[in-house]
Amino acid sequence: MLSKLDRPRKDNETSQTPSQETIDDLFPLKIERDLQLKLLERKHAPELFKLVDSNRTHLRRWLPFVDDYRSVSAANQFIRRNRESHAGKTRVLMGIWSGESLAGVITYDYIDWSNRAVLIGFWLGKSFEGRGIVTRACSALTDLAINELGINRVEIFCAYENTRCRSVPERLEFKQEGVSRQRERIREHFVDTVSYSMLASDWKNRTGEA
Ligand SMILES: CC(C)(COP(=O)(O)OP(=O)(O)OC[C@H]1O[C@@H](n2cnc3c(N)ncnc32)[C@H](O)[C@@H]1OP(=O)(O)O)[C@@H](O)C(=O)NCCC(=O)NCCS
Repeated sequence: MLSKLDRPRKDNETSQTPSQETIDDLFPLKIERDLQLKLLERKHAPELFKLVDSNRTHLRRWLPFVDDYRSVSAANQFIRRNRESHAGKTRVLMGIWSGESLAGVITYDYIDWSNRAVLIGFWLGKSFEGRGIVTRACSALTDLAINELGINRVEIFCAYENTRCRSVPERLEFKQEGVSRQRERIREHFVDTVSYSMLASDWKNRTGEA
């Protein structure tokens, strides 16, 4: 399959990175009939705030950012800041839609174009857990990164004790690479994290594309 980087380039594109326009063109990304990823825009701020606000207890254990999310305007600022990084093509912020409902958020958290590596982060509202939504979204984004964006390495980091999070890369057969001691600070505690990765060669072998 031709990746986006193999296709004819516009003047402002380099051989290393696709243009923002090229990335934008990938969305909305339809995964299945009732599941799609859309770029989060400022018009989504009220919906995003509502989802965070109704899931504070569920999210707070692992995602301390929720404490700073006290209004629609905080959601608005979050989306705006992410759009700036998006313009720099280092971050892509997406909403996960299950049917008509915003179910959660998933990101290309940091795209390291020079090393062709990307980190994926995610969370879901409590009522959307247990349906394979994030596993399928991560699978689609791994596929997109490798097959469309020319990425060689996809990473997922989870807190060591966050078993639900760890099950996602494990279900997709990411390789567990190691434990980083006290790598993340969650409020007053430092927690260990586990890193997982999928290489393009392994993904293509797994999906029979090699
Ligand atoms: C981490 C988190 C996203 C995982 O959510 P999840 O619902 O467990 O993950 P998925 O959406 O992939 O669903 C997997 C579950 O759906 C089931 N499932 C149903 N259909 C499935 C399908 N087609 N494919 C895969 N799994 C499927 C799986 O068996 C699994 O069930 P289980 O919970 O009984 O083990 C969620 O718990 C969360 O947001 N937690 C709070 C925030 C957080 O920790 N974020 C991560 C920080 S790095």
